Amino acid sequence: MLIRQATRADLKAVVNIENSSFEAERFSRSQLLYLITKARGLFLVLELEGKIAAYLSVLTHKNHHSLRIYSIAVDPARRGMKLGQALIEKATAYARELGLPALSLEVNTENSPAISLYTRNGFEALEILEDYYGKGENALKMIKRL
Ligand SMILES: CC(C)(COP(=O)(O)OP(=O)(O)OC[C@H]1O[C@@H](n2cnc3c(N)ncnc32)[C@H](O)[C@@H]1OP(=O)(O)O)[C@@H](O)C(=O)NCCC(=O)NCCS
Repeated sequence: MLIRQATRADLKAVVNIENSSFEAERFSRSQLLYLITKARGLFLVLELEGKIAAYLSVLTHKNHHSLRIYSIAVDPARRGMKLGQALIEKATAYARELGLPALSLEVNTENSPAISLYTRNGFEALEILEDYYGKGENALKMIKRL
């Protein structure tokens, strides 16, 4: 397993993972390109046998005191192998490296595999953001204090 910084050359593989992982609330190719090449933060890809199997996007905001996990997705064929776990550990290490006191994220309240991954990693539910992903689609805001 190799986890490394993404480059523009990884865009196609990242788009494929995105499209097979999310239905409505998914990033477009150009949004993903922006996140890989320009956004303030880190965009990692995880390779298994030379093939990209997962990605993670985290953002740092100037006046925010937490590292925001903006998106994480694993190739559906590679789920349940703790690849998401490996990426969450990288995000945590990066937050510590930056001296930030916490990580934060939003997740759909119906997304139990993701909520389970976050809870296992010490994230606590902070509040419910109603209609965050559209009418009737609520988000759970979670935080992990370091
Ligand atoms: C959430 C996600 C990143 C977890 O990645 P992962 O590498 O499968 O993580 P893990 O192996 O640590 O497993 C996480 C949970 O998924 C469950 N799982 C196991 N095999 C699975 C499979 N084949 N398909 C779906 N979920 C599976 C696990 O049981 C585990 O839940 P548990 O702790 O209750 O047992 C992945 O499911 C995913 O890409 N989902 C779609 C995108 C998404 O929802 N991203 C989060 C947005 S906030």
